[in-house]
Amino acid sequence: MTRTYDISEAATGLPMIGAPEPRYDGRMKVTGQAVYAADAPVSGTLHAALVLAPQARGTVSAIDAAAAEAVPGVRLVLSHLNYPSDLEAVPTFATGGTTQASWQGFESPELHFAQQPVALVVADTIQNAREGAKLVSLTVADPAEAPVASIFAEAAPEARDISDVIPNVVAGDVDAALSSAAHVVEARYTTPFQHHNPIELYATTAEWRDGGLIVQCPSQWMTGTRAALATKFGLAVERVRVIAAVTGGGFGSKATVMAHTFLAAQAARMVGRPVKLYLSRHDMWTAGSHRPESSHDLRVGMDAEGRLTALDHAQVQQTSRMDDVPLPGTEMTTRMYGWNAVRGTNALVSTDTNTPGFMRSPAEVPAFFALESAIDELCVASGRDPVEVRLASDSMTEPVEGLPWTSRSLAECLRRGAEVFGWEGRSERPGTRTRDGLLIGHGVASAMYPIYASAAVVDVRLGSDLSVRVSAGAQDIGGGTYNVLTQMAAATLGVPLANVTAELGDSDLAPNGVAGGSRQTASLTGAVKDACEKVIAELAQVATKEDGPLAGADPASATVADGKMSIGDRSVPLQEVVALVPFGVVKMRGSWIPASADPKSIMDLYRRGATSLIGFTTDTHARSSFGANFVEVSVDPVTFEIRVPRMVGAFAAGRILNEMTTRSQLMGGMIWGVGSALHEQTEVDPRAARFVNADLGEYFVPVNADVPEVAVEIVPEEDPHINPLGMKGVGELGITGMAAAIANAVYDATGVRLRDLPIRMEHVL
Ligand code: MOS
Repeated sequence: MTRTYDISEAATGLPMIGAPEPRYDGRMKVTGQAVYAADAPVSGTLHAALVLAPQARGTVSAIDAAAAEAVPGVRLVLSHLNYPSDLEAVPTFATGGTTQASWQGFESPELHFAQQPVALVVADTIQNAREGAKLVSLTVADPAEAPVASIFAEAAPEARDISDVIPNVVAGDVDAALSSAAHVVEARYTTPFQHHNPIELYATTAEWRDGGLIVQCPSQWMTGTRAALATKFGLAVERVRVIAAVTGGGFGSKATVMAHTFLAAQAARMVGRPVKLYLSRHDMWTAGSHRPESSHDLRVGMDAEGRLTALDHAQVQQTSRMDDVPLPGTEMTTRMYGWNAVRGTNALVSTDTNTPGFMRSPAEVPAFFALESAIDELCVASGRDPVEVRLASDSMTEPVEGLPWTSRSLAECLRRGAEVFGWEGRSERPGTRTRDGLLIGHGVASAMYPIYASAAVVDVRLGSDLSVRVSAGAQDIGGGTYNVLTQMAAATLGVPLANVTAELGDSDLAPNGVAGGSRQTASLTGAVKDACEKVIAELAQVATKEDGPLAGADPASATVADGKMSIGDRSVPLQEVVALVPFGVVKMRGSWIPASADPKSIMDLYRRGATSLIGFTTDTHARSSFGANFVEVSVDPVTFEIRVPRMVGAFAAGRILNEMTTRSQLMGGMIWGVGSALHEQTEVDPRAARFVNADLGEYFVPVNADVPEVAVEIVPEEDPHINPLGMKGVGELGITGMAAAIANAVYDATGVRLRDLPIRMEHVL
């Protein structure tokens, strides 16, 4: 099938690189041909099942495995009793490493959180392993103190200042600015525990071969997983291989390495056979991580002209007793508008739950729920329009260090979103807009997501039939990374997209960074471009040799397009040039390093999978994508059922590689936002510190019926600073601010201001 697209700026209205092609992996996924890690056959595999601890604190004083060992086919019961004591602790991500938590296996009998894995049963079938796991009997010595379940619990410890890790953001005199403001809102906003719930569960198949380790597991970071396993088991990185051709969603839960991967590898080493550990949905709640609870005390000031002037934002987040996981939300809120004065602080409260992680715009979702709600409250207090106030407070200069934004199209997004949505401002009085007997409310919030980028490496191979193979040890977690490689290579080499195949998801390929922080497109495209340009340069040398078809021409001015190489007014079919190369194949490795990153960051990739991350601000610029979310909610005046009949999001994220996949990602983000506002909450038992709704029967996520109309507007934007192509990330942009837009719309519909997520019908009563 051949498609043609007009992707000129005139036709699309967007600066674009590639056609709106469907996902490269789409057909293989919908036809069941995609091989997920758990499905890859490995001969002689044994199966494993976890035994979880019943309580959050205490010590496992005895394990009776006799009944489990008597189950037919059971080969091993692994626990702290027979776990090796010489495995290395892998540094956590927060301390520069690749794991989520410092709890990494059965090193000790101590319990740190409820449902902590404490034993692993290995058997010939998964049924026998699970039967064995049920029969393992634990004796737990009770702790002296009751566990702390929540940062909101009365027994919760004091919040700990973490300004040594995330510096406070201070500019101007915020107290003075607030006292001279015409309007001030002072309020506390809170967000709950939430869990990622990608469709694909964690699964690790580990196999030792000739002293090396092969692991098949879904991952957002193949190279980082390889580095973690190498460290844990004292192997050279070359002896470890991590494979997953596709990853069925991560949402941050597969960005860092979790203990189950180490447990499967250790079990395989002990039984001398491959071991597959396939977690249940329930296991995922505590084998992985979660979005931590958070609380935000805000004071926000507005002047008499309706301009936002001052922000004081104190953020407190949950972490575990074992690890500090700082998420820098106030770094972003204090830079979002043209504030005259700001103060942003961060603190942590340790609870007896497991270590939190990165989930769907980890810092931004809680922080911007607070800020964008507070701005709405100021608009109500001042009688001003929420779009106008945001427009009046927009600034092309970041207010803390006075850095220019590399590009910032917030105003265009607000205007475009308002136009498409049909924004008429809020109701004169809340609760007065009705339709078909339902209360109707409209709400708006700004969106932003910082631009991260890391060093990237890509291999490109061009054959004499003009077939192209692009390979990277990166991963496609559902966002379209395969398309990033194929479309970028086709565009740069001037060959049809159908000629290009891509290979991802194998740590033996070129090492790469984490598919987190919405950075893969911004990072990988530069490396693809570099590799392709090296291929072109090589071919230009060949073509301009004495006996070459372009003899005498200057190879430096060669260009390729439509399967031809041209220099000046002479051109030759590319295929003829490739045929002149020995063996008819050109292979090149390309790389890219963010402009302000350490040049050694490429070596970091090879050695330990770590990448210097270039984020929100550099020495010269502030960097972010921006957008605006508009929502309509309906509230049933009798049952108080809240629904979101329509949403419009307008976003600007630099040059667009593929309008179709970009739109899909932004739409997905907006739908996550509906989940964050109305559905998703992990309930924690206040006495046992135990997550109680640990399955998709009781943890609610939006389904199709919850999102009938989601419109995405992409606002054209050029950014000359970010990377060679001016591409920003979009993965986590759509969700930011959405919870506030919905809360603001619920206020408009009902007059009830809700400052705690999620918003449920009983809160509107
Ligand atoms: Mo994403 S939460 O940065 O993996």
